[in-house]
Order: sequence, then C-alpha cells, then structure tokens
Amino acid sequence: MQRPMDKAAAEAILRWQVDAGVDLAIDDAPHDRFAESKEPPRRPAASPPDRQAQAQAPAHPARRVASPTPPKDATESARLLAASAPTLEELRAVMESFEGCSLKATATQLVFADGNPRGGLMLVGEAPGADEDRQGKPFVGRAGRLLDKMLAAIGLDRSHAYIANVVPWRPPGNRTPTLQETAICLPFIHRQIELAAPRILVTLGNPSTQTLLNTKVGIMKMRGRWASCMIGGRAIPTMPTLHPAYLLRTPTQKKLAWRDLQAIGKAFRESAPTS
Ligand code: URA
Repeated sequence: MQRPMDKAAAEAILRWQVDAGVDLAIDDAPHDRFAESKEPPRRPAASPPDRQAQAQAPAHPARRVASPTPPKDATESARLLAASAPTLEELRAVMESFEGCSLKATATQLVFADGNPRGGLMLVGEAPGADEDRQGKPFVGRAGRLLDKMLAAIGLDRSHAYIANVVPWRPPGNRTPTLQETAICLPFIHRQIELAAPRILVTLGNPSTQTLLNTKVGIMKMRGRWASCMIGGRAIPTMPTLHPAYLLRTPTQKKLAWRDLQAIGKAFRESAPTS
C-alpha cells in the first residue's frame, strides 16, 4: 500500500515544480501518462449509445475541454458578438459567454477592464498575468503597480484611465498570446475601445502596439511618436510606449517611458473638454 507523503516532501516537490515554471493545476489527481500509454486501447461498449459515448470520452478528462471551434469561425463569431453589444456591460457579458478562445479553458476568469471608461484615457496591455487572472482585473500585479506610478507621475490615476488588454484571458505560464488567439480576441478589444471612446489611447509594449496599430514595426521604433488608431470610423490619437513589465526588467529605459508619459499627459490635458 502506498504511504501518504509527509508534509515536508510534498512541499519540496511543490517548490521544485514552481521553480521549474509550473503555475497551473489542470487536474486534481496526478496521472502516470507513461503507464497509460502502454495500456491496450479501451473498446467501446456495444450498447446502449450513451454508454458508448461514455467509453469514447477521454479516460482522464482535463478540468475543462478547450473549444474545438475553428479559428475562422471563432473570429467571425467574436466579431458578430462584439458588434451586437451596445454597452461595455453587454460586451463583458458576451465575452463571458464566448467559447471560441481556447485560453478560456486554462484561465481562471475573464479579465475585462479596470478604471473609468469615461476617463478619456485608455491604456491597453497584452494579456493578463497570474495576479490579474486571480483577481479578474488588469494590471494589478508588479507591472500594474508601476503603471500606477507612471500615471501618478503625470498627475493621473485610474479614475482618469480605462485599462484593458488585447487578450482578456491569461495565456498559461504567461506566454505571449499566439497570432491566432490575438486574432480571435481582436474584435472584442476593438469594440471595447469603440464603446469607451477615449480621447487618447496608449498601447503598452510590442504586442499591443503591433496589434492595435496593425504594424510589424517594433516598439522601440514606434514608441514616443503619435500614431492613429482607426476604430469604428474614428481616428484615435495613440501613443505607443514601453510596457511596465519591460521597465521592471530594464529600469534604464524608464527615461524613454518618462518622455512618452510627458507627451501623453500634455495631450490628455489639452484635449480635455472645456466646461
Ligand atoms: N501585463 C499585461 O499586459 N496586462 C496585464 O493586465 C498585466 C500584465
């Protein structure tokens, strides 16, 4: 009989897994896949049909099964759903119900937005990380705290800014979203920007900049220069800047971000409606 593992051994194994980069549990019990692959294939029972369906189901189903929707259909379905949402609340609801992006299967929840959608400034990042996935809000981890300091440096906070990501579900292990995942989610962020209708848009980092400005030019060339993002027939003045996670890794580049922030703050104030 197998003896239960003692606490210290269990903790050591867990630490080893975390050090190796494991950050997601996808099932309650471990499986010996090597042993399973040597087992003879199971034969489906002859009848009745529901037993047959059971036999054909995976022997060890994962926590949730990824959607098999083909990417083109998923993008089209995202486009139709996004267009059908007349408000941000309804957009959030249709995104909650969307099954076309396989990232939803491994993410804890949808990370829709934070801040004030009527603030006039909108910041768009790449995709949620572990903290955002847990809390259901964008930019709440270390990068988010730096983003708050960046806003504070130009006299702003989240009451002036609406914050979202191009991809609203966390990619496992914080990998960069694939082009396919990004394409599937694109109609949602486009609609989110259209409904928030910011005066100024800021793209944070390379993936967000390249996706929203539809360019292959890298962030180091794009940053610090005003661009225009065409959304819903409106050209929104857009400033690409460095991602706060990059600035945490490369603090010497903060001076570049500081210059971008100055330009963002100035444009934000100058574009404010006069009452
Ligand atoms: N990085 C992002 O791009 N978005 C987040 O929400 C958090 C970190």
